[in-house]
Amino acid sequence: MTILNTMLEAAREMRVKAYVPYSKFLVGVCIKSKNGKLYSGCNIENASYGLTHCAEASAISLMIADGEREIAEVVVIGTGELICSPCGACRQRIREFAPLETPIHMFSESGKQKTMTLSELLPESFGPDHLI
Ligand code: THU
Repeated sequence: MTILNTMLEAAREMRVKAYVPYSKFLVGVCIKSKNGKLYSGCNIENASYGLTHCAEASAISLMIADGEREIAEVVVIGTGELICSPCGACRQRIREFAPLETPIHMFSESGKQKTMTLSELLPESFGPDHLI
């Protein structure tokens, strides 16, 4: 089993745990940290819609809580036939912890895949290096 397949399986398992009573759009994410550890997250919605947590935010929270600080690879899987790409806010969340060349593997529910780097998804981005 390749690491990508392991990550996809973890993201799929997490996806079905999503709490999405409003959108019914389940998202699962698996992040691999620089040290090779995996962190998975799902989206968590709220009756006050704007408080929704994206799956990426959930996975990043676990990574940070575990003491890891660098993202090496990301898998995102959504719902339906369209390949699910990270929303704009989550591209910026990933940007905080990932080098620009980090691969982001995006999947449809049935497994259609597209891989792009963070800098392709978020060109000319603003990040921590601007502040130090
Ligand atoms: N969603 C994510 O979890 N990650 C993304 O990058 C795209 C959007 C969630 C938020 C909301 O619960 C649902 O998908 C529909 O927008």
